[in-house]
Amino acid sequence: MTFDFTAKRILVTGGTRGIGRAAVEAFLDAGARVAVNGRTEASTLKALATLSTEAVPAPGDVAKAGDCRKIVAAAIAELGGLDVLVNCAGIANGGPMEEVTEEDWDQALDINLKGTFFCTQAALPHLRASKGNVVNLASDAGLIGEVGLAVYCASKGGVVNLTRALALELAPGIRVNCVCPGYVDTDMVRRDVIDASDDPATTEAALANSAPLRRIAEPQEIASAILYLASDHARFMTGSALQIDGGTTAGHPRTSP
Ligand SMILES: NC(=O)c1ccc[n+]([C@@H]2O[C@H](COP(=O)([O-])OP(=O)(O)OC[C@H]3O[C@@H](n4cnc5c(N)ncnc54)[C@H](O)[C@@H]3O)[C@@H](O)[C@H]2O)c1
Repeated sequence: MTFDFTAKRILVTGGTRGIGRAAVEAFLDAGARVAVNGRTEASTLKALATLSTEAVPAPGDVAKAGDCRKIVAAAIAELGGLDVLVNCAGIANGGPMEEVTEEDWDQALDINLKGTFFCTQAALPHLRASKGNVVNLASDAGLIGEVGLAVYCASKGGVVNLTRALALELAPGIRVNCVCPGYVDTDMVRRDVIDASDDPATTEAALANSAPLRRIAEPQEIASAILYLASDHARFMTGSALQIDGGTTAGHPRTSP
């Protein structure tokens, strides 16, 4: 499937690396102009240095509602309007329930859930004007539980149902969908889980084997789904939670040898 986003104006939060970066590159390749958000001006400008000149900066911390408004305002100032908002900024802070602090809880919920809401709220008048759409980054962990990831699961479950609620509230003018990836080869998984473990090879194999398709996804595979939902190919989709997880959420894995 080919995508044509010529003259479309896109904002990707958390667009400096990982899945967000792959989405930024894919939108640029498809002819869009893209505002790239990173948490700081430095991280945003560093990412922009290696992207096409059609990428413009929109730095800010999505955990703060005031910054969400600044991020959207910067994107509008550069692009002149907005056709697609991709809420991709996120963190995965895990650990046994007993060890979770109030700060851990606030950080995950503020970035993953509150940021998604307030960036969308700030973008609303511009998306209404363009009859645009929103793509949120949820997770397979927003559809099923995962041991040691209770706070992340809560935040991503929130993103899935926020997507549905906003899809209803904003229809028929604005579509709102989310993607639910399984494990993806980004810093969140490679650096923070695999390489941080005592035995990276075994950890990587365990993550890969947890999916029926027996591997970890590449960020570009998630970007393709984001572009699909953002495109006219998906014009009859709203409120959807699209799984790109190698079958992880399809049901129980094979139990016989
Ligand atoms: N990697 C996975 O396996 C996986 C699976 C399912 C869902 N996701 C989701 O996909 C999204 C992207 O994850 P990734 O794997 O690319 O992670 P990553 O760590 O590689 O990138 C995260 C991005 O979010 C940005 N970010 C973090 N906190 C921010 C803040 N407060 N304000 C603005 N930007 C902030 C980072 O700067 C970075 O650009 C996240 O929402 C994540 O939860 C990832």
